[in-house]
Amino acid sequence: MMKPTKWLNKYSVGDSEIDKQHQKLFHIFHKLIKSTEAEGSSLQVEQTFDQLLDYVAYHFNYEEQLMEKVSYPDLDKHKKVHEKLSKTVKKYLKKYKKSSGAQKKSVVTELARFLFDWLQGHIMKEDQKYKPYIPQSNSKGGFVKGVIAKLMN
Ligand SMILES: [Fe+2]
Repeated sequence: MMKPTKWLNKYSVGDSEIDKQHQKLFHIFHKLIKSTEAEGSSLQVEQTFDQLLDYVAYHFNYEEQLMEKVSYPDLDKHKKVHEKLSKTVKKYLKKYKKSSGAQKKSVVTELARFLFDWLQGHIMKEDQKYKPYIPQSNSKGGFVKGVIAKLMN
């Protein structure tokens, strides 16, 4: 069964900015697939690859700074997971540049599938773990819970 390729409410980490960034990532993955269908495809795909790498770096940095600010105990581990993903995307870009014709399209499709899966898994496993530590956008109670979680760790 194919996993959904969009952001769902259960992905929320309680911080509206991060939720927005995760939604934007899903949007860029879609854009990547679409870019293979456009005319003059190669350039557009590479531009979308660049946008993807830029935005992933921006988002990871944002998340890491927030985790640092709240003294999230597993920050180093989380950073490594981010690093690994960035490397994987760069590998795909290289592979894309080396391939030709229909192969190019399948590299992008493979990457997009991987990214949809990766992001959902990552949000549900890793990102949910810092949720109790960060101030919650929609409730003050969330922040208090966060402080308690921090003290108990
Ligand atoms: Fe993350």
